Amino acid sequence: MKNILILPFILGAYSVNGAMLPSKQILTTNIAGLSLSEIFLIFAILIMSVALLVVMLTLQKLAKVLLKPQIEEESAYTQAMQNRTFWQKLGSLKPLSMEKDLMIKHEFDGIAELDNPTPPWFMYLFYGTIAISVVYLVNFHVIGNGQIMTHEYAEEIAVADKAHEAYMKKFANSVNENNVKLLTDAKSVEDGNKIYTQSCVACHGDKGQGGVGPNLTDEYWLHGGSTKEIFHTITEGVAEKGMIAWKKTLNPIQVQHVVSYIATMQGTKPANAKEAQGEKVAVK
Ligand code: HEC
Repeated sequence: MKNILILPFILGAYSVNGAMLPSKQILTTNIAGLSLSEIFLIFAILIMSVALLVVMLTLQKLAKVLLKPQIEEESAYTQAMQNRTFWQKLGSLKPLSMEKDLMIKHEFDGIAELDNPTPPWFMYLFYGTIAISVVYLVNFHVIGNGQIMTHEYAEEIAVADKAHEAYMKKFANSVNENNVKLLTDAKSVEDGNKIYTQSCVACHGDKGQGGVGPNLTDEYWLHGGSTKEIFHTITEGVAEKGMIAWKKTLNPIQVQHVVSYIATMQGTKPANAKEAQGEKVAVK
């Protein structure tokens, strides 16, 4: 008994103090995804639990012997206990004839309370939850076999992201030259701004003032100033004049965003603006 009680501490010491192990090699050994120290820890916990159970059972037996009622009383007790109905036995209930022994000493307005034991089914349920908690702990937190919530969440988000991406691709292609509309929401315009800064600044200037390419802030347009026409110019480009066909790099939604951003630059009159080119038409 003494040895059993000491064992978990020895094992625990091994698991905590890797230096006590013969060589570093063993530390990295894995069994079913568990490191040696983790296995030691689990064993230590299990052995501790068993030892605790043994101690509790022993104490219970001891208590029974010490608190043993007198012989004739006991035979009456056994008799009464045996005569209980099935349901009384199942509920670990004392027979009615013993009620006076169960009575708790205080009473109020002639009403007394019985000290009935917790029903065994409830206790088994309780022990069951303890057993399940050990299985749960090992499965979810030690081996990592089960999916804890954060893993589940990450996995679901990854799946949703994929679905979102696929949807956006499909959705993006639903915008075209014929149905494109100017967007005014901050997010779309901001996205357009980003695309403009990345791809267009080199030729049209950081403020749209123009450079190699024409000024995009004035009301003069070479290829038309309507949303549809600007969309068309950007997607198809003007190859012979050095304006790239952006449909290979930008999807229709992105072009829509950049068109929406260009619309916000209208009439801003930036410094060093390039002279007007083309015909005067307002962006609409
Ligand atoms: C390599 C230089 C270059 C880059 C980069 C470039 N453009 Fe252009 N862009 C031009 C040139 C040059 C023209 C004028 C074409 C012409 O003269 O017909 C033009 C014309 C345009 C026009 C038509 C203007 C009009 O007056 O009708 C629009 C709109 C436009 N570009 C938008 C964009 C956008 C949006 C981007 C970025 C996604 C972009 N451009 C990137 C060179 C460029």
